[in-house]
Amino acid sequence: MKVLVIGGGGREHAIAEAIARSPKHPEIYAVMAKQNPGIARLCKDFLLEKETNIEWVVEYTTSNKIDVAIIGPEAPLSVGLSNSFESAGIPVVGPKKEVARIEFDKAWARNFMRDNNIDGCPEYRVFSNDEGLKEFIEKLQDVAVKPAGLTGGKGVKIMGDQLADTNEAYEYAKEMLEKGEVVIEEKLEGEEFTLQAFVDGENLAFAPCVQDHKRAFENDLGPNTGGMGSYSDADVILPFMLADDLEIAKKIMKQTVKTLKDVTGVCYKGILYGQFILTKNGPKVIEFNARFGDPEAMNVLPILETDMIDVIDAIANGKLGSLDVKFAKKATVCKYVVPAGYPDDPDADKEIIFGDMGDAILFYSSVYEMDGKIFTTRSRSAAVVGIADTIKKAERIAQEGIENIIGDLHYRSDIGTEALIKKKINHMKEIRGY
Ligand code: AMP
Ligand code: GLY
Repeated sequence: MKVLVIGGGGREHAIAEAIARSPKHPEIYAVMAKQNPGIARLCKDFLLEKETNIEWVVEYTTSNKIDVAIIGPEAPLSVGLSNSFESAGIPVVGPKKEVARIEFDKAWARNFMRDNNIDGCPEYRVFSNDEGLKEFIEKLQDVAVKPAGLTGGKGVKIMGDQLADTNEAYEYAKEMLEKGEVVIEEKLEGEEFTLQAFVDGENLAFAPCVQDHKRAFENDLGPNTGGMGSYSDADVILPFMLADDLEIAKKIMKQTVKTLKDVTGVCYKGILYGQFILTKNGPKVIEFNARFGDPEAMNVLPILETDMIDVIDAIANGKLGSLDVKFAKKATVCKYVVPAGYPDDPDADKEIIFGDMGDAILFYSSVYEMDGKIFTTRSRSAAVVGIADTIKKAERIAQEGIENIIGDLHYRSDIGTEALIKKKINHMKEIRGY
């Protein structure tokens, strides 16, 4: 079996590692823009090429007689790599452009939710010019301003965080309008969680819930990033969630998959990522992504007990209904090391030395190797994951591992700690009022 992994980040290293664990001993191939040392070591062969360069990617895939491909990042999905794979007769895990749109066009995604009565949609409006913009912002008062296109998680600005008042919100929205449509939506208050599912067009197999930490610095301060780290609990839900919250989130995702097919005529095959915010009125949808989260993939894939090759085959060939997808009942904590100054002014091209990881698992992300040494880029460098019976123990494992990564780097030591988790539980109690 020859499996191709598209992408070269931490998420894709976790995907490749899950595939490599298969007792079927698949041959792994990869396409990545930069050589991820972890993925490269797991591969029989790889192509260093932009993942969006469809022509080259498909040529590489057919000439290596790849049996199935799995697409990690959003960019190749947004340019229709899955469509091209399908035309070339290559089974693929990763939705076609028509339905991956749920991620890369936030305006379309919100209209899709509203028009089809998908639960959990906040009040919002899409603007393509500034007519009525100021009035709508003033009506909602507390808003989130979102450019409609892909921004790597960094284009969204929220009142009270990056935006001081309605005036600043209006100015930012106007600035963003120069690049395309802008979504203005009500600011939702609560704790966020991620729910990821394998989807075969019809059936969904859910992974445990994960909470990511977008902010660069301890105690959830500082600018938004791609994600500084994340945790999951042995119990499938997170410590601040109720079992019902998960059921509501699952229902929303199932409704979304079914409706995507009804509306577009295209089956959603791949990973669906639901980002939810748990408000006093239950879970609301922040956004959907058409892929695994990065870092969230690194929480769930290492504890996947089912053979990843069987999962990939079931997704690509519509057989997920008859596969029992299981995850170990373990807690996980993932922490990213990033270049000093990230995300505003990251210190690239600095050497990183990886010491003893102990019981932690290391996933490489945006680094490169030269003369046997590993260097930073401008993005997140590497992640360590601890797995244990409790979040507390998993945190210790991750922390002890990350302390042995030496370089001009930064990480958040608070992710997964008891103190931060208590804060989140209390925050949710306050919001729910009990
Ligand atoms: P996104 O790029 O959509 O993931 O948004 C980045 C971050 O902005 C999310 O992780 C949330 O913390 C925040 N966010 C997005 N939409 C809202 C909203 N309607 N209310 C409050 N926070 C939001
Ligand atoms: N961790 C957020 C994302 O992957 O979009």
